[in-house]
Amino acid sequence: MLNLKSYKSSSLNGSIKVPGDKSISHRSIILGGLAVGETIVNDLLESEDVLHTIAAMREFGVIVNKLDEQTWSIYGRGVGGFDEPKNALYLGNSGTGVRLLLGLAASNPVNTFFIGDDSLSKRPMRRVTAPLEEMGARFINRSDGCLPIVCSGPKYLLPIRYKLPVASAQVKSAILLAALGASGNTTILEPEPTRDHTEIMLKQFGAQINTVPFEKNGREISIIGQPELKATKINVPSDPSSAAFPAVAALITKNSNIRLTNVCANSLRFGLFEILIKMGANITINYCDTTGGENIAHLEVKSSSLRGITVPAEIAPRMIDEYPILAIAAAFAEGTTIMLGLKELRVKESDRLSAIAKGLSASGVKVEETIDSLTVYGKGGSVKGGVLIEANMDHRIAMAFLVMGMASEKPIEIDDATTIQTSFPNFYELMLNIGCKLTKPSSAHKDETE
Ligand code: S3P
Repeated sequence: MLNLKSYKSSSLNGSIKVPGDKSISHRSIILGGLAVGETIVNDLLESEDVLHTIAAMREFGVIVNKLDEQTWSIYGRGVGGFDEPKNALYLGNSGTGVRLLLGLAASNPVNTFFIGDDSLSKRPMRRVTAPLEEMGARFINRSDGCLPIVCSGPKYLLPIRYKLPVASAQVKSAILLAALGASGNTTILEPEPTRDHTEIMLKQFGAQINTVPFEKNGREISIIGQPELKATKINVPSDPSSAAFPAVAALITKNSNIRLTNVCANSLRFGLFEILIKMGANITINYCDTTGGENIAHLEVKSSSLRGITVPAEIAPRMIDEYPILAIAAAFAEGTTIMLGLKELRVKESDRLSAIAKGLSASGVKVEETIDSLTVYGKGGSVKGGVLIEANMDHRIAMAFLVMGMASEKPIEIDDATTIQTSFPNFYELMLNIGCKLTKPSSAHKDETE
C-alpha cells in the first residue's frame, strides 16, 4: 500500500511528456499478436494494465519482447492461430484488457480462463459476452455475469450485425476483434461514437474496415473477417487521459504555465479539453502530427479563472474517463457545473460518481448527485480540502484528488495510490518535475502548511 499526500503548490512550470496512451498500447500489443511478422511498438505505456495484456498474449503463444526503453517487438500468430493458454489470464484492474481479450479468445477454438482483481471482478461483462454468444462463442461465468469467466471459442464464428446498447469502445472493439475470425462481414451500429483507435489501427494492419455515418451522430462500422494482417510499426502518442491531470493542476494553480508534448488528440478522446476551454481555460492546442492515423498535439496550459457550465450527455463518450478531474476543475470554478449522462461512471474501476461526490463534499464543496448526473457548486478558487480520500482501487480517483490537494487550502491524502501504476506509472515524478508538492507520508515528510 502506498499513500500519497498533496499540498498547495505555488506555481507549476515546465514541459513534460506523459506516458503512452493506454488504449492504443493495449491495441498495439493485441493487433501485433494477430499479424504475421514482427510489429515494433515505440513509446508503449509500460503500466500494470498493459503488462497484464502482454502476459496474456504470451499465454496465447505470441512472442513479445522488450527491445529497449519503451520499444517492444511482437511476433504475431495470425488470425485464428492462437495456442490454448495453460494458465488463467489475470488482467488485474484492466477492463480494456479483459474485454478486448474476450473478443480475441472467442475467435480461436480454445478454452480461455479470465480472472482479475477485486475491482475488475465487480465490473459488468455481459455487455461483451452477449454479442460474442451471438457469434457462436460460449461462456461460463458467475450468475451476475462478472469474472471469473471461461470463454470457449467455436470452430466457426458467425458474422453479426449488432447495435451497441451502451456507448462502449471496449464492447465495439471486442466484437471487431472476434469478427476477424468470422467468415464474412460483421457490422456494428454505434448510435454515439466512441474512441476509434481499434478501427484506425486495424486499417494500419491492412484489415478491410469501413465506417459510414449512422443515425444522427453515430457510425456504422463494417469489417471483413479472416484477413491476413500485416505487421507494422506503431508510435504510441501520449495519453490525453493522463495529460488531463497535470493540465487541470496547472489551470487551478496560480502563476502556472506548462507544456504537454505529443498528446493523442483524437477528437473522440478530447471532450475534456473542449469543455475546459468553454469554462474559460487558457489552453492552446498545437496540432503537430497524424502518425498512424491519430491526431497528435502539443498543449500549452496556463492558470485560468474557470466558470461553471452545463456539460451535455452527448459528450460523455468522448471524455468518459475525465469526469473525476473535470469535477475537480469544477470545484475551483466560479458558479455551477452540471454534468449529465454519467450512468457509465457507476461501473468503472469504482463507482466514480459516488466517489467524486463523497470526496468533494468531504472537502467542503457542495455537490448534488443523481443516478446519472453530478452538479458541483464551484467555490471560485477556494476549496477547503484537508481530508483522507479512499481511492477504492481506482487510479483516476486517486490522481484527481491529489490534483485537488495541489490547490486546496489544506492537503489531501490518498489512502492507497498503488493503482496509479495501472495507467500512469511515473505520475509522482512527473508532477514533482513541474513543481507539484507531493509526498509519500510514510517517508516521514512533514509540511508547515498542515
Ligand atoms: C477504453 C474505453 C472506455 C474507457 C477505458 C478505455 C478503451 O471504456 O473508460 O478506460 O480503451 O476502449 P468503455 O468503452 O467501456 O466506456
